[in-house]
Amino acid sequence: MDLRIKSFDEYKEKYRQSVKNPEGFWDEIAKTFSWKEPYDKVLEWDFDGPDVKWFLNGKLNITENALDRHLEKRGNKLALIWEPNDPKERPIRYTYRELYEKVCEFANALKAQGIEKGDVVCIYMPMIPELTIAVLACARIGAVHSVVFAGFSAHAVADRVNDAKAKMVITADGLNRGAKQIPLKRVVDEAIENCNCVESVIVYDCLGWSPNMKEGRDHWWHDVVQTMAKECPAEPMDAEDILFILYTSGSTGKPKGVVHTCGGYMVYSAYSFQNVFQYEESDIYWCTADIGWITGHTYIIYGPLVSGATTMMFEGVPTYPDPGRFWQVIDKHGVNQFYTAPTAIRALMAHGEDHVLSYSLDSLKVLGSVGEPINEEAWRWYHIHVGKERCPVVDSWWQTETGGIMISGLGDISPMRPSHAGYPLPGIQPVLLDQEGKEITENGVEGYLCVKFPWPSMLRTTYRDHERCRVTYFSHYKGHYFTGDGAKRDENGMYRIIGRVDDVINVSGHRFGTAEIEEAINSNAAVVESAVVGYPHALKGQGIYAYVVFEKMPEDLETARAEIIETVVEEIGRIAKPEKIQFVSGLPKTRSGKIMRRILRKIAEGEPDKLGDTSTLLDPDVVDEIVNGAQ
Ligand code: PRX
Repeated sequence: MDLRIKSFDEYKEKYRQSVKNPEGFWDEIAKTFSWKEPYDKVLEWDFDGPDVKWFLNGKLNITENALDRHLEKRGNKLALIWEPNDPKERPIRYTYRELYEKVCEFANALKAQGIEKGDVVCIYMPMIPELTIAVLACARIGAVHSVVFAGFSAHAVADRVNDAKAKMVITADGLNRGAKQIPLKRVVDEAIENCNCVESVIVYDCLGWSPNMKEGRDHWWHDVVQTMAKECPAEPMDAEDILFILYTSGSTGKPKGVVHTCGGYMVYSAYSFQNVFQYEESDIYWCTADIGWITGHTYIIYGPLVSGATTMMFEGVPTYPDPGRFWQVIDKHGVNQFYTAPTAIRALMAHGEDHVLSYSLDSLKVLGSVGEPINEEAWRWYHIHVGKERCPVVDSWWQTETGGIMISGLGDISPMRPSHAGYPLPGIQPVLLDQEGKEITENGVEGYLCVKFPWPSMLRTTYRDHERCRVTYFSHYKGHYFTGDGAKRDENGMYRIIGRVDDVINVSGHRFGTAEIEEAINSNAAVVESAVVGYPHALKGQGIYAYVVFEKMPEDLETARAEIIETVVEEIGRIAKPEKIQFVSGLPKTRSGKIMRRILRKIAEGEPDKLGDTSTLLDPDVVDEIVNGAQ
């Protein structure tokens, strides 16, 4: 079960093997897992469909791999450590045996509530142990989990619940976030007013509030588990059955449900976890992501638990009660691997070094970064002040769609270069393509980042809309998966991710499509149209800049701005709030009516002198007006 590559020479050899004989390479790894019935073929694939199948006809249950198979040797090992929002509150620790029992108990409760294999369960919860338990309980009985980040609004929850036709929602009365408490059940109530598919709601009592409970529909978590057995047979799943859906934004339309399947995702989550973090048996590993995003799915829950690791979950935020909270938690629990996002590093960096220098951080071995390009200044601060120049920084590039880390350093075994994700993991074949879709094979080049061969944890489809999956990811460059990112490859073959080349904005490591924000803004009755672009933001990586055309230029700009923000918060959530809003009389358009985002982007970036030729626009004067009024 130790899947670790232990030196850079071994890495190079394994990489070679994985390209020469991918099926043999993955077979060796997959064999070490626990299968209820062995697979009879490793891979069938066609990127045109797309139609990709891994470990054909294999039967398994991922929770047997994450829990049952550890009970004999690791029954008393800590599986999960939960650190609360309030440092004065006590952490919760579950051994593998205890977590197993909690998951089985809740799995039985789900069944008692009528949830069956294939049903979709939406999980909208705080970062508490019950979130992990709920996810694993779904997997135990073959229900498909769709976790929705607890910062999304009622509208956004309703969209996701309806798209997935979720039969149940699991939530809590509310959540703690720094000094604030935020209601969740109220949001769910509002959301599912418009969701006929939801038959029941389970509510965990997190804050001791007394939310509205609808008779016959809503049930308390503590009631439904009361008489449940602590053993629950694991549902046999086909390797290609759906494990979960996770909604993510793209350049067009509403967020889509990225579909991951049981077998391939299991294999890749554990393989990548062990290698990137070089996890050793007694290590304590902490990923600060929220389970509402893919990072939390793969690197808080599945990767670590399938590997028999001790994984930590944190309820709070980096700056509460003070900006030393992360470092205090690392010392308190003796954390060995720490995985966080550049936006958090930049926020803490802004508070100065004192907060980090007052902790020893001796236990740390590996530092990780994820979600957006890490600028050199933040990289160095992380490396020097947190890692004491002793710990490697693994800059891991991947996506919701890839299921696991694709390009990254592997602990301390691979060379590292600031702001460079580095080399692909063995089994991953990235390529750079030029404008024409031709592969650029030499080094020291830049291009569109694609992948030319399947890997086990790749998305299989977008839920109930396979065509959208094909068009979004497999139609741009024939025979390739297109990531939507641009990248450079240096003289030594190390990759540096430049950022998105499509209309996706990455705010604090979270993805938003310009189209979905525009749609939200346009739902404001006074708005004629709008265009949204990203601009460089010192803390968030990118900020949201909205150009808004009102029917009549508003007299009170501040009120109008507040109203626009309110509609975005209502439609999507506070996380998608535009940072800057500029009211304009029109948008720069081509003669065929297409909005020239390139121009708007340059203005938002503060480079109005680099607009290029604007004389062919429908109304060139509008550009001067926008430049003059730019924020
Ligand atoms: O643009 C890349 C950026 O985040 C996008 C994926 O976002 P999401 O699906 O929300 O997943 C985030 C966590 C895996 C990518 O297309 N991105 C992610 N990691 C990095 C990154 N950009 C640069 N460096 C990274 N390490």
